[in-house]
Amino acid sequence: MTATGVVKRLDEVVDDFARRARFFREPMTPGRARTFVRQHRLNTRQRNSVLKLRVATNCPIWDLRVRIIAACAEEVIADHAHGGGRPHWQILEELGTRIGLGLDEIRAAEPLPSTLMCWHAWDGLMSNRHWLEGLVANTCAERANVPGYGTGIMKKHGWFGLERERWGKLFGLSNGELQFFGLHEKADIEHSDAGWRAVERFARELRMEDAVVAACERNLQVWEMYLNGIGEAGDRLG
Ligand SMILES: [Fe+2]
Repeated sequence: MTATGVVKRLDEVVDDFARRARFFREPMTPGRARTFVRQHRLNTRQRNSVLKLRVATNCPIWDLRVRIIAACAEEVIADHAHGGGRPHWQILEELGTRIGLGLDEIRAAEPLPSTLMCWHAWDGLMSNRHWLEGLVANTCAERANVPGYGTGIMKKHGWFGLERERWGKLFGLSNGELQFFGLHEKADIEHSDAGWRAVERFARELRMEDAVVAACERNLQVWEMYLNGIGEAGDRLG
């Protein structure tokens, strides 16, 4: 992790998110895990087929624009590099069937009111915004999957490394069965490093250091709300 100037400030914002969000600090439960599958399948499709593409559309730097679209395609169409040619939401469906959910039940899920509210908030932070603030929005949540933020297992292996550990214990699943998390530990480090380096470079060139740090804070506040919503709905299931 580089630690100079704007990247240092962004890293501090991500670290604060990793340390404060209840979803990371409180125990994982079957209800929370099942709610995560149903909501996150929808969320990854919304983000990668709508929200992140708006950022690509606004981005005038051609190779960056193509890279954003390629990352979205891995998520929603086919990931040949890490996912055996499957999109990530499909790998998440497979995980859902291993923790007691039916495929039809996963696919019939509706977004929670809290999830919908977050989509509206992200829409405001990603659509009618400078593309560089949008790029921060695209990258900052994946950033928590990169080791080095927060404490304990999260600091060592990133957010999805933490989930791999917790879900493995809770449901007795092997690392192979938890591929959804394992693949992100690799894919997100690549995507996020490329994004973070681009943010650093353009924030300096465009003199937008304060704007990108503020964008990071606001986007992660929405992520915190999204995860709180999953936690609350999951607790109603037990
Ligand atoms: Fe993904």
